[in-house]
Amino acid sequence: MKSAEEVLREIGDDSQLANVALHWDEAMADYPADGPHFLAEDFIRRCREATGLDAAMESELLAVAAAARADESLAQLAWHCYWRVFHAPVPCPPQAWPEPARLGERRGLLYLLAAIAYAPMVYEHHQRLGIPEAVTRETLQQAARYCNDNYCRGHDGRPGIYLNQMGWMRHYTREPYFRLGRLEYWLEPMKRDMIVYRHRRTGQVVAFPPDGTRFSADGYRYNREEDYANEDSWVSELGFANDCVCGTPVSPQGYARREKITLPLADWERVLCKGEDSLTMHIPSGGKMTLEACRDSLLRARDFFRQYFPDRPVKAVNCASWIFNNQLQEILPDTANLVRFQRELYLYPVPSSAWDGLWFVFLKSGPFELKDAPRDTDLQRRILDFLATGRRWRASGMFFLLDDLDRFGSQPYHDALSEKCS
Ligand SMILES: CC(C)(COP(=O)(O)OP(=O)(O)OC[C@H]1O[C@@H](n2cnc3c(N)ncnc32)[C@H](O)[C@@H]1OP(=O)(O)O)[C@@H](O)C(=O)NCCC(=O)NCCS
Repeated sequence: MKSAEEVLREIGDDSQLANVALHWDEAMADYPADGPHFLAEDFIRRCREATGLDAAMESELLAVAAAARADESLAQLAWHCYWRVFHAPVPCPPQAWPEPARLGERRGLLYLLAAIAYAPMVYEHHQRLGIPEAVTRETLQQAARYCNDNYCRGHDGRPGIYLNQMGWMRHYTREPYFRLGRLEYWLEPMKRDMIVYRHRRTGQVVAFPPDGTRFSADGYRYNREEDYANEDSWVSELGFANDCVCGTPVSPQGYARREKITLPLADWERVLCKGEDSLTMHIPSGGKMTLEACRDSLLRARDFFRQYFPDRPVKAVNCASWIFNNQLQEILPDTANLVRFQRELYLYPVPSSAWDGLWFVFLKSGPFELKDAPRDTDLQRRILDFLATGRRWRASGMFFLLDDLDRFGSQPYHDALSEKCS
């Protein structure tokens, strides 16, 4: 077995040695006697097909696998990548590892071979959970999305996978996490700290942040305490007394309000809070996010989790992403899919940096020079023009209560807090 240093030296780029060397010996202790299974031709054919990669990619993948079988450095590096993503006891995904230059235009495929090897693990995991194969096949499309929508877009059409995205693939092999139509859902205790009430008669919904949460003057959250320094920031209140909840609520438009409201608990029922099982939503790239596609997916999610996880009833979907940044309502036209979707949801401020999520649009991690960012698409141009005005960008959260699905399309939270609640 070669050391990490020897392998990188042979590949001709040891700039990432410190990261590649992490857990190297443990991974090599598991190195299969016959070489990595995911370099075998039949295995690659099955994984290529299962993950939805173009058929034309098959010969390219097979050529890279043959090169790796003939070159122990390549095989060891690919194994290490696979091991770090899928087998490391504690997640420790690869970061910015070099692509072997000797593979030329195919150099992005070495790690893609390790990535698509998740297919049998996902199959096995889903079978244990009793999930239909059709859902497994839908879920497995993520590998092709990463390759086609992101990596190829960022590399003039050359295929591969961004290693910063590959770490996420571990979750599909071990979590209750599925793609259902346009969107993906992960059944887990809700991490977001909030408490949500519904009026027992009118169905009106009001969300509160926990007591003591700091907000900017206009009701948003920063990820660094020092960012609040030069403004009139304030702290939320939440208390329970005299059979009422009294606090500073969040507007469904996505910002916290600096005024207190009181809700009598005889009229208002708690319907959601941190730690309760909920569906954390994720948005895979590719394909429009029309309201219809989102509604179909949410309906499927409600029915799917009721059927396959009956002992873990869920009441809500939640998510945090650049996609729920309510500034998009200024940036995009009223008819844009993302704007229309946002208006159906209860938006919610989350701690955010000024660059959150912009990687998914520009394939660059911030901070970056606006003048160097691509302006190829309408979305990119509009976001760059907005940032050029000096406004601070943010990510945001959202939730949607599954009981409101029959009202999806009529902006069920739009008027919450516009009337007096108490
Ligand atoms: C969310 C998403 C599906 C957008 O859906 P949509 O608004 O229905 O997209 P549309 O297909 O109507 O695109 C509208 C415009 O935005 C552009 N656009 C959409 N997504 C883009 C992206 N991720 N990067 C750059 N431009 C994008 C489109 O090219 C189009 O512009 P054009 O007419 O000049 O070609 C899309 O942004 C996406 O796939 N994002 C990646 C996944 C992601 O960000 N997930 C969240 C991670 S936290």
